[in-house]
Amino acid sequence: MKIFKLKEDLSNHLNILRSQNSSIGFVPTMGALHDGHLSLIKASNQQCDKTVCSIFVNPTQFNNTADLEKYPRTIEHDIVILENSGCDILFIPEVDEIYPNNEQPVHYELGFLETILEGEFRPGHFQGVCRVVDILLNIINPSFLFLGQKDYQQCMVLKKMITLRNHHTSIVTIPTMREADGLAMSSRNMRLNTDQRIKASKIYVALQKMNQSGSLPLLIAKKQALTLLSDAGFLVDYLEVANANTLEILTEWEKTPMVILVAAYLGDIRLIDNLILPGI
Ligand code: PAF
Repeated sequence: MKIFKLKEDLSNHLNILRSQNSSIGFVPTMGALHDGHLSLIKASNQQCDKTVCSIFVNPTQFNNTADLEKYPRTIEHDIVILENSGCDILFIPEVDEIYPNNEQPVHYELGFLETILEGEFRPGHFQGVCRVVDILLNIINPSFLFLGQKDYQQCMVLKKMITLRNHHTSIVTIPTMREADGLAMSSRNMRLNTDQRIKASKIYVALQKMNQSGSLPLLIAKKQALTLLSDAGFLVDYLEVANANTLEILTEWEKTPMVILVAAYLGDIRLIDNLILPGI
């Protein structure tokens, strides 16, 4: 695996690969890699000739400095597991390489998507995500961008950013990888203590419970799931059912595909998850 720290070196190398007709798949990450990330690398390896992974803890997408400081960083371990994953190229830029001279950020017109769920509870977060992915796509110019379904709203936001910025990249969304007890794999799980780790699986239990409550009115099903989460010690930011295509928040079950989305704190660790439901 080749490792690049400078965008120019990476871009020159990728131009050579492209001139040899290699298709490029890109897996952006913030490191602290787990099997969820590896499933994205695997999908890219299967679909593309060359896979580029980036590790960059993006400061502009953290709306809370403490969260940025506590974000797990395990770069040596990440490099070892990437070497074994068949990843071809790793990009590990410093902050100045991505954001030179405090350049004025672009504003992305994300509209409704930025006003709900993660957008509502993490103001500015999606602007930061779009900013870094826009910059990375300009450097890498991949044919395919591999993203995890765990960040459902992020996938929709980045799809919109790609259209707004005319990138020639298609998004491939890969299903969420889960631990044996259903907890969605996430870099943040590393920060859970033993007690929190046991409680964390209740997020998936709550999602499943809602999934099986189609015969109850949606608002009752939601209340039951919220009680389950608060009894387990969660502080819930949101638990909503939305139209899976538009993310419009629903108050009644729909016939079209829906998605249940949740974000909740255990201590100071914020976990998110979602479950897609076929329409009833
Ligand atoms: O999902 C993530 O890990 C990040 O939001 C991403 C897409 C790597 C951008 O920093």
